[in-house]
Amino acid sequence: MKTIVISLGGSIIASNGLNTSFMKEFSEFIQNMDKDIKFGIVVGGGGVARSYISSLRKYGVNDNVLDEIGINATRMNALALTSFFDDSNSKIPTTVNDAAELSKIYRVVIMGGTEPGHTTDTVSSLLAERINAKVLINATSVDGVYSSDPKKEKSAKKIGELTYDKALELSLKELSGAGSNVFMDPTAISIAKRSSIKIFIINGLQLHGYDDIIRKGTTSGSTIS
Ligand code: UTP
Repeated sequence: MKTIVISLGGSIIASNGLNTSFMKEFSEFIQNMDKDIKFGIVVGGGGVARSYISSLRKYGVNDNVLDEIGINATRMNALALTSFFDDSNSKIPTTVNDAAELSKIYRVVIMGGTEPGHTTDTVSSLLAERINAKVLINATSVDGVYSSDPKKEKSAKKIGELTYDKALELSLKELSGAGSNVFMDPTAISIAKRSSIKIFIINGLQLHGYDDIIRKGTTSGSTIS
């Protein structure tokens, strides 16, 4: 059985309120996929996480608490997404261990964050490693990896194929910039590297992008391998 993990960015399903029309289309798309493909879907925090974290940061709330708040937002979004599925868990697992157990029961397992100190990108890599997925789709608001942040620099160029080491270098470079919006965090890339998990970075709002990867193994986004 083929197993695929999707890191579904919060910006895709919940940037300004819940994107319920996308959630419905996405759930139908996944449920209509070949029944011998298993999915792990890790949902990001989106607008709620960002707005709570930035408001509270101004009052000196520490990062551990802010991370916990972010985690709660990811779990709320994950629970919202399960409402659109017939064949997924309906209780959100709080660890990769528990998600792996649920994955023995459900064809589609949906979760959010786990612990402070990382993002759902890292949770996705850990889940992929744990349930032996060799493909990790990072569904984000940008359609691939760019030489620099395309939202800030017009000269940024999309890179179709990257090695893990090149992706790590770019991710670390972007992280060091203030207010960075990195395409994938370095820990997530390192975990994928040690277990040879191929990462695809795509615009998460376009369902044909997932279809190309799942059915044909191709993408117009970027790959890290
Ligand atoms: P996200 O994974 O959505 O973070 O988790 P992000 O990459 O900043 O958001 P997007 O991709 O732009 O939407 C939201 C926040 O929740 C906390 C972190 O503070 C993170 O920034 N978090 C999340 C954790 O501390 N641990 C987790 O496992 C997940």
